[in-house]
Formats: sequence, structure tokens, C-alpha cells
Amino acid sequence: MMASSIGNAEQANTSLDHIRLAPGDDKTRYQQSSYKTNSLSLPMRRGKVAKLHEIAKTPQLGLPALPRNIIEQVDRNKIELGRKLFFDRRLSHNKTMSCAMCHIPEQGFSSNEVSRPIGFEGRAIKRNAPTLLNIAFAKRLFWDARENQLAQQAWSPLLAANEMNNVSIGAVIEVINDDPEYRSLFDKAFRQAPDMLNIGQAIAQYERSLIAANSRFDQWLYGNIGDALSKQEIAGYRLFIGKAGCSSCHTINRNDALFTDQNLHNTGLGYSNSMTKISDTVTVQLAPGVTTQMKQSVIQSVGGIKENDLGRYEVTSKPSDRWKFKTPSLRNVELTAPYMHDGSFKSLYDVLAFYSDGGVEHQLLSPLIRRLNLSKLEQGQIVGFLKTLTGSEVRTLVADGLAAPIGDTIIEPDD
Ligand code: HEC
Ligand code: HEC
Repeated sequence: MMASSIGNAEQANTSLDHIRLAPGDDKTRYQQSSYKTNSLSLPMRRGKVAKLHEIAKTPQLGLPALPRNIIEQVDRNKIELGRKLFFDRRLSHNKTMSCAMCHIPEQGFSSNEVSRPIGFEGRAIKRNAPTLLNIAFAKRLFWDARENQLAQQAWSPLLAANEMNNVSIGAVIEVINDDPEYRSLFDKAFRQAPDMLNIGQAIAQYERSLIAANSRFDQWLYGNIGDALSKQEIAGYRLFIGKAGCSSCHTINRNDALFTDQNLHNTGLGYSNSMTKISDTVTVQLAPGVTTQMKQSVIQSVGGIKENDLGRYEVTSKPSDRWKFKTPSLRNVELTAPYMHDGSFKSLYDVLAFYSDGGVEHQLLSPLIRRLNLSKLEQGQIVGFLKTLTGSEVRTLVADGLAAPIGDTIIEPDD
């Protein structure tokens, strides 16, 4: 009976200090008897509703203006409806998986705990879940840039067999239409019954409200607040735009910065993952501290074989597009580990070591990627700089997500 209390909005408490921006637990320390859990039971996860329509409309320091038609479309009722759809577990075939279970608010609207998320009934997905923060500014969507409209993109996960696995568009519309609350919300927002177009539009409106800039870096560069960054962080910034050449793809403009050129490049990572032979045995942890060696063939007989990933080539079939992936924005990157299209790297230090070595040399490597020979100090300074890119309002967006209904079905006890 109590299921609907999950994610209750806490109205009295205005401070958001209790909102943790990380997974509940750091599992690497599970083995220690002194370990205290950080995880909260669902009813203890206190959220706070935010004025998302205002966030969606208000320019934030460091970001370019959104197109005028996007701003004019911003609508409170549509955002509220899209937010409900985004968190609603009933929108998957077996009513258990929502968008928010891979794009997890407190994990930077991405998935911190897995390099590649696990979808419907444990099925594998070959790529890392990108953050949805600032997705309003993305010109192209997915790591291979195969989509360009949020309203259309939403149907990919809803229908993909390894994600939410709905059998058809009609089946999703039926589930939504069967719910009187949704019927009235669609009427209020669109003056229409739910259909393929307006479901996508509502979700897109919610996603476009997830704007997170005005970071310490923005305050320093665009707000002229000299002490917003430390000396080390400024040194990292200078390397980023200078010697390390990062900003030739992760763009910083005079008045704003998206940290992406909205283009696709080959860093060599996809090539190396496709070409490297995986080892015959794998170390598997059976219980905390207890591991065993298993043959790869045994694992593959119960799981799936890791799918090859050719990046942009899968969209264009042009050989020169092999292993090209979209340049991700680096805003809020501190919150979105693990990194790269397949979550290969656990930490920003690993990413820096990779770039310092010049990616992976092969025929199709981007000419912009070259051996940098950055010292450990320099790599650390760049990581320090990247950690200044966390938006000032992320906690507000996360707290709002925790206050959203998750569409759990109330199961009455038998007796
Ligand atoms: C099972 C995990 C999972 C679920 C559920 C899921 N996503 Fe994703 N999402 C991903 C992964 C993985 C990618 C990257 C896939 C790729 O690039 O090929 C992605 C990519 C995206 C992107 C593109 C981001 C970018 O930077 O290009 C958007 C937008 C998005 N998802 C929105 C949604 C919405 C809306 C829903 C619910 C209708 C949803 N996702 C459900 C895992 C998931
Ligand atoms: C040639 C263009 C290019 C250059 C130069 C470049 N990057 Fe990237 N960056 C990319 C692309 C493309 C990806 C995704 C690559 C992949 O998944 O294979 C990426 C991924 C990343 C990621 C992972 C982000 C995430 O959300 O997963 C970080 C962090 C990053 N780059 C930082 C840097 C830094 C720091 C530098 C400079 C040392 C740099 N990049 C130089 C294009 C570039």
C-alpha cells in the first residue's frame, strides 16, 4: 500500500546538502568489516521538486543561447508530463525499467556503476550511457550521431529489444492511454490523446530542462571571478587549450563553451577494442574476496559475446568512418564515470594517460590525436580543471529527479 511514498518531496527542507552526487556505495571497499553503507532505502531518498520550466528558459553562464523556437516551446505542463514518463517503469515491456534507470539522476544522469548498462532482463548494451545534462545543446544524438531530434530519439530505447523492449509504438501508447492520470495530463499539456509525436515531445521537453552550467570554470572565464579557480586548475585549463590540444575538439568559445565540436573523431580506442584479442580466461568474483578463473567460452555460453563496435561506420558504411565516435561534452564530466563510448576508462586519470600516449596509433587515427608526453603533474592539473566543470544547479536537478513518481504498480497483499 505504501509504494507511492517512494521519492516523496520534502517541502520543509530547502537545503540540498543531503543530495549525494555519486552511487550509494563505493563497492571496492565492501570487503572491509568497518565499511558503512552510503546507500539509502528508497523511502529515505528525499527529493525536492524544482521549477524546471524556469531552468529550461533561463540562460546559464557559459552556455550559448538555445534557438528561439525551443525557448518559446517551453511549457510547464509538458515538462511535468515528460518527467513523469522519463521516470515511469511501466513504460518497459515488463513494467520494470524506466529511462532514469540508465540515466540515473544522482550518477550524472548516466550510469556510474557499469561501463555498459544492462537492459531488459539482463541483456547487454554495447555502449556507455551518456549523460543527459545539457542534452538540449546536442546537435546530434548517440555515440554514432545516428539521431538528431530528442523527440524521435526517445523511441529507440522504448523499442530496443535490449533496452525497454516494447513490442510496438502502439503498445506503449496503449499503456499510457489506459492510465486516467496520463490521459488528463496529456489533455492538459497537448489538448490531445497520447500519440507517437507528443510522447516524444514531452520527454524531450523534460530532457531540455536538464541544464547544468554556471560552473566554477564559467564563473572564472565568463564571469570574471578571478578566485573561482585555483592556480593548479588554471594551469590545467592552459594545458587543455594549449600544449595538450584538447580544445581542438572539446570546443571553448569566446562567450560560451559546449566542450564539443558536435563532430565525430577516431581516437583509436574503438580500433584497439575491436582488434585486441580478449584473453582466454577471466577472473570472476564469486563473493567478496573470493575469486576464480573461468574460461571465456563458458562465460560466453551463458552471457553474450561482446559485440563489435565500428562507430559511425555503422550509420554510413563508409570505411573511413570506422571507429569514429561523437565528441562528448565535458561539462559535468566529474559525475559521469566511466568514460568513452564503451566505458573503457574508470577515471579521468585513465583518460589522460590514454591521450598522453597519443591514443592508439593506426591508419584511421585522427590527425588531431598525437603523443603528448604529459607529466603526471600535468595530467593531474588537467583532471583538476575538468572537475571545475560541474554545474552549480546539478543538485537541484537531481533532487527534482528523486521527487519524481516512478510508476511502481501497487501490489495488494494476498490477505
Ligand atoms: C538500458 C539502459 C538505457 C535505457 C533504459 C535508456 N537509455 Fe538512453 N542511452 C543508453 C545508452 C547505452 C546510450 C548510448 C547508445 C548509443 O550511443 O548507441 C543512450 C543514449 C541516449 C541519448 C543520446 C545522448 C547523447 O549524448 O547522444 C538520449 C537523449 C537518451 N539515451 C535518452 C533516453 C530516454 C528518453 C530513455 C527512455 C525513453 C532512455 N534513454 C532509456 C542507455 C539507456
Ligand atoms: C580529435 C578530437 C579530440 C581531441 C583532440 C580530444 N578529444 Fe576527448 N574525446 C573525443 C572523442 C571523439 C571522444 C569519445 C571517444 C571514444 O569514445 O572513443 C572523447 C572523449 C573524451 C572524454 C570522455 C568523456 C565521456 O563522457 O566519456 C574525456 C574526459 C576527454 N575526451 C577529454 C579530453 C582531453 C583532456 C583531451 C586533451 C588531452 C581531449 N579529450 C582531446 C575527441 C577528442
